[in-house]
Amino acid sequence: MPTDAAEVLLAHMRARSHVAPKRLEAPGPNADALNLIFSAAAQAPDHGRIRPWRFIVVPQDKREALGHAFVQALQTRDAHASPAEMNIAYEKAFRAPCLVLAVLSHAPSEPQVPAHERLISLGAAIQNMVLMAQTLAIGSGITSGQSMNASSIRDLFKLDADETCICYVAFGHVSRHKPQRKRSEPTAFVSVLD
Ligand SMILES: Cc1cc2nc3c(=O)[nH]c(=O)nc-3n(C[C@H](O)[C@H](O)[C@H](O)COP(=O)(O)O)c2cc1C
Repeated sequence: MPTDAAEVLLAHMRARSHVAPKRLEAPGPNADALNLIFSAAAQAPDHGRIRPWRFIVVPQDKREALGHAFVQALQTRDAHASPAEMNIAYEKAFRAPCLVLAVLSHAPSEPQVPAHERLISLGAAIQNMVLMAQTLAIGSGITSGQSMNASSIRDLFKLDADETCICYVAFGHVSRHKPQRKRSEPTAFVSVLD
């Protein structure tokens, strides 16, 4: 039988939707809220208990360095990038009051856990984070992009060779909410073995 707690949880899940980082405004989560968000990440399923992921917060005083790394990544993949395109790349680093990089580890582990299981664990951690944010009335957005694993970005974040940048998770205040999008009914994706 559904309980009140289940209805409340589903209501938070329904209320969450992706917010583009440029629409996430100050204030970002305070230290207590951020600690709850990362504690939610720690509850993710994790085959072999290897926690094959970590998160790197980008503080305000590192946004300029991130902007330069975005521009460098753009110039590396497009030597003809225009000043306007470089400006957009630079400006992206300043979006959202709280920006977190999600990193997946491929480091050998005991027991051995395949890459897809590691990625599922990270995805679950991120979902826990955005749901916790929603519960705290904090908006969130998940983004990636062509520069994710550019050498300028990898160097800035000091990644090990066996780590991959997967996406950014941004948090902030949402002043204009979008209408909730229609989600699939379980009948659309669940069948019973016959
Ligand atoms: C790993 C990952 C990377 C993503 N990167 C982007 C992105 O760069 N730009 C974007 O608009 N949406 C991106 N998305 C999709 C949005 O985060 C979002 O899930 C999608 O717009 C659907 O909205 P919803 O989360 O409200 O259902 C990404 C999603 C995931 C899981």
